[in-house]
Formats: sequence, structure tokens, C-alpha cells
Amino acid sequence: MAESEGAPKILVSHNNAHTYVKAVLQANNVSAQDAATIASCLVAADLRGVDTHGVNRIPSYLARIRQGVLDPTAQPTIENKTPVVAQVDGKNAFGFVAARLGMQRAIEMAEVYGIGMVSVKHSNHFGMSAWLVQQALDAGMMSLVFTNSSPALPVWGGKEKLMGVSPIACGAPSSEHDFILDMAPSVAARGKIYKAKRRGEKIPRDWALDKDGNRTDDPAAALEGVMLPMGGPKGSALSIMMDVFSGVLSGSAFAGHVTNPYDPSKPADVGHFLIALKPDLFLSSDDFKQRMEYLYNRVVGSEKMAGVDRIYFPGEIEQLMEAERRESGIPYVEAEIEALNEEARRVGAPELVTA
Ligand SMILES: NC(=O)c1ccc[n+]([C@@H]2O[C@H](COP(=O)([O-])OP(=O)(O)OC[C@H]3O[C@@H](n4cnc5c(N)ncnc54)[C@H](O)[C@@H]3O)[C@@H](O)[C@H]2O)c1
Repeated sequence: MAESEGAPKILVSHNNAHTYVKAVLQANNVSAQDAATIASCLVAADLRGVDTHGVNRIPSYLARIRQGVLDPTAQPTIENKTPVVAQVDGKNAFGFVAARLGMQRAIEMAEVYGIGMVSVKHSNHFGMSAWLVQQALDAGMMSLVFTNSSPALPVWGGKEKLMGVSPIACGAPSSEHDFILDMAPSVAARGKIYKAKRRGEKIPRDWALDKDGNRTDDPAAALEGVMLPMGGPKGSALSIMMDVFSGVLSGSAFAGHVTNPYDPSKPADVGHFLIALKPDLFLSSDDFKQRMEYLYNRVVGSEKMAGVDRIYFPGEIEQLMEAERRESGIPYVEAEIEALNEEARRVGAPELVTA
């Protein structure tokens, strides 16, 4: 990921980005504890290079608070169903707050029984799934992290937005290189289509359909249409799977009824599905981690195809990016800084400090 591409970048330290998010949220009635949770998740996304799900999301979240469709003060509740199963009612709080509570309980159950499963209902968008995988890794746990989301993808063969671009994520600890898979089931991120449009470039014809359901290489036409699922029917099936486990099972919205973030008429009603699993159920913890490290070395050391300089383990590119950005700062463009500082000025909170 070249940091030099596109408009000039302005660097902000991760500590300052965290301070900014926390202050702006607190000024919008979010408790200090919840604001710190949300700030950590958004800054983690920016540090890992998942810029589409970082601090830049703040204006859209605050708009939902002002529209009265996201409750900044709600405190999710938790109900035990069996010794290894619990359910969180998000109560329309921030998705970050509801999902963090859910993963915390899943970890507690896994510590005692080996596995913990938590369903989360009536929640909101929780951004980058990898922060929940990291929460489990920090406790030494493997994890599965599923969520549903508002319609953006057609099902295979269809042309209307029905399923969400709902990410599937999982993780496992290793002695040195943790495994973190976190992927949306679309061929390409929508941000890549915006970038092609800005630069006057064509896009590959397997990325999107225009509004009439035809494949297109024109990014402007693609933005009026729909994203295509990756791997044809397989990506479509994965997004349906996210809806089964996160929406149908939990009692939250499903089948295309999660509210779009830009629809101010009602709460999003997102559902999540979280599993924490103890990695030393069948082998010692050291054996497990050594076997993971062996797998890592086999993967990154495998023979490379022509034109490939280096093979990466899932999550590794983001881990390298995080190490770099912790030192150099997080790059934003001027328009992004301005939009964020406008939110700070609106509530009298401190603005971002640029280097
Ligand atoms: N909460 C929501 O509703 C929602 C919706 C959509 C996306 N998202 C988030 O958006 C983010 C972006 O998803 P994405 O699918 O565009 O991610 P991506 O395509 O950049 O990466 C997907 C996965 O592939 C791995 N990967 C990428 N390039 C690799 C390479 N060269 N070698 C080895 N592994 C590689 C990554 O480590 C990652 O695990 C995710 O964090 C996701 O959680 C969230």
C-alpha cells in the first residue's frame, strides 16, 4: 500500500487521533469508557491500513446520533443461555460497545469450558472485524467473528442490492506471527472504485454491475449500480452465511432489512456472531503455537509465482503497516481532517493536531 498515492497526506499520531475521537464522542454524550473503546477500534483500523473503517467514520456515526437512530448512552445487556452460550442485547448502542462486551463474555466462557459463543442483537456497525479478533488474541484465544450489514451486494444471478458486504473474520495465536483473516465477500472494496473514478481509469469488468444489471468497466456507472460478490456464487453464499449466523439466529434484522448507514429513518439493527476458542484443547499451548509458526514458515516460504517478491500470511500486511504507522503517524487527506475538525468545532472539542 503506497502511502504516496493520490492527494497529499497529512500525518497525525495515533495517540492524537485517539484523543480526538474520545473527546468528540464524550461531547456527544458517550461515556468516557465507551468513547475509549470506540476510539481504540477506529484508530486500530487506521493503524492497520484499513482506512475505510477508521476515524473517518466519525462524522457518519455522529450524524446517526443526531438523527436519533443510534443511542450514545445505551448500555447493552447480557444474558447467559447455557454455560457456553450467551446473548447480548445491544440496545442500539454503538456496535463497538456491544460486540466488545460479547467477545469479553465469549473469552470468559472459553477460559472455563474451552469455547464460548455469543450472539449479539440490536447492534450497530462495528467497523473493522479484526479488532475483535485481536481482542481474542490478546487473551490467547482463537476466534470467529461474523456480522451482517446493510444491503450492498446482489446474490449471485441477481442485480438488486440484497446482502451486505458482511466481513468474515477469524484468528489464531502463534509464537510470533498471529493469523488474522478479515475479508469482505465482494471482489473489490468500493474505495477502489472511487479511486479509479478520481483518476479517470477503467475498472475490471468483474467488480460491479451498472444500475441496469450489466457488467461495466466504467467506475461512475459502477457506483450507481452494485458491487459483485467475490468468487461468484461462493462470495454470495458467504454473505448469506453471515446473515444466517448474525441476523436470522440472533433475532436482529436480516434478509436485506439492516438499515443503511445513510438512512436516518430507523436504527440499523445489526446482528453479530462471536466465538472464542481455547487453542490448547487438544495439544499444549506451546505445541499449538509452534505448529502455527511452522505453518507460517511453510506459507511464506513457499515457491513464488512469477512477479511475486514476497508471500504474506493473512493479517501480516496489516501488522507491518501498523508497525510503520505507529512510528510515522496515520496519513489523512486535507478534506478528511477538515470534516473531522468540523465535528470537533461543533461541540467545542480539541481538533486533530497535524505534524
Ligand atoms: N462491519 C462491516 O459491516 C464491514 C463491512 C465491510 C468491510 N468491513 C471491513 O473492511 C475491511 C476490508 O476488507 P477487505 O475484504 O477489503 O480486506 P482485504 O481484501 O484488504 O484483505 C482481506 C484479507 O486478505 C489478507 N490479504 C490481503 N492481501 C494479501 C496478500 N497479498 N497476501 C496474503 N494475505 C493478504 C488480509 O490480511 C485480510 O485478512 C475489513 O477489516 C472488514 O472487517 C466491515
